[in-house]
Amino acid sequence: MAAVEQSGTEAVFALDREVVMGTYLRQPILFVRGEGAYLWDSNGEKYLDFLAGIAVVQAGHCHPHIANAIAKQAHTLMHISNLFHNPLQAELAQKLCRLTEMQKAFFCNSGCEANECALKIARKWGKAKRGADCFEIITFHGSFHGRTMATVTATAQPKYQAPFQPLIPGFHYTSPNDIEALRALVSSRTCAVMLEPIQGEGGIRPMQPNFLQQVRALCDATQTLLILDEIQCGTGRTGSFLGSQSMGIKGDVITLAKGIADGFPMGVCLAQGEAANTLVPGDHGSTFAGQPLACAAALATLEVIEQENLIQNARETGGWFLAALQKLQTEYPDRIAEVRGMGLMVGVELKNPEAKSLLQGFLRNHIVVNATSDTVLRFVPPLIVTQQECEKVVSTLKTLLQATA
Ligand SMILES: Cc1ncc(COP(=O)(O)O)c(C=O)c1O
Repeated sequence: MAAVEQSGTEAVFALDREVVMGTYLRQPILFVRGEGAYLWDSNGEKYLDFLAGIAVVQAGHCHPHIANAIAKQAHTLMHISNLFHNPLQAELAQKLCRLTEMQKAFFCNSGCEANECALKIARKWGKAKRGADCFEIITFHGSFHGRTMATVTATAQPKYQAPFQPLIPGFHYTSPNDIEALRALVSSRTCAVMLEPIQGEGGIRPMQPNFLQQVRALCDATQTLLILDEIQCGTGRTGSFLGSQSMGIKGDVITLAKGIADGFPMGVCLAQGEAANTLVPGDHGSTFAGQPLACAAALATLEVIEQENLIQNARETGGWFLAALQKLQTEYPDRIAEVRGMGLMVGVELKNPEAKSLLQGFLRNHIVVNATSDTVLRFVPPLIVTQQECEKVVSTLKTLLQATA
């Protein structure tokens, strides 16, 4: 592809600043093409992508099988109202239920919408099953569940909530890995506990498997739904289809989005048991949700994940990557506080607030990464990455640490 003129690139930045609401701190790079684990900017420069759209592009950019499926469906039937049946939606729901051990799916267009559906199921189920006062939901400090009013209320991080007070009533927050604190909060008013098995935006923090099993037992004992937000850690990223499968627990309601259609907008809320049959006509819906075009993209993505053994690659290559970063930590104990994660969802906690300057160093070396805070670097590459590409990221981090010693 011909490089976009530099003046054209600057013009895009200027127009963006003028007419697009300033909700994102954008890097001054204009990506114009993607293929596999690589992106090209408007100057024709190639970048290794260890962000993948923030854990979205599981099968890599513009995978030909997925691109062809989208193009074919676009020429056949893009959209049909949810007032009519859609064979691709039913097929996709069946596949997702099989992969997640759930019974029914509700499709939507994003992660926050999938969580909205989960929250509505929990409230309706709680009131019907346990009485009108049973509507409270407990989430965890450091969580991220989205930016709609209900999901920002579920997101127990003051920085996301402060400008939008007052929030939705009926939410309580507690600390991860503290079962006694959770036990003290659960009451006859609690309809659901909602958590990310590995907190993503909170800094790649896996919850302890033992704690998750205790949460499951507590929910069973108190007739409380367990909602697992797998939007960032699901769809194969941790080395199992779900992060919770890697950690040995099962939810009643599971939400997925991000990686489910390799970048095509889609979210899904899956449920089992009574939760799966709680919503009835008129309770919930969305115009575009689960349209044939999005379903074709998601079905093709699942095919690629299976045919190319991407979950196995996430487990094996991710395991190598984590170990290599942990080795780097032993070489730089005064700079790296912790390396954590699972599969290809990895975070490096730094001792100093230098994540953002290291990110700029990575960009100068043509590697796209992300910082979830001043002290945490996040690596969530496409699930196709090789050990060699991981090696490049580790050696670049080493060079950057050396250069700023
Ligand atoms: C765990 C988790 N839940 C929910 C969301 C919200 O998803 P979306 O941005 O698609 O609404 C995100 C997005 O980062 C997420 O990481």
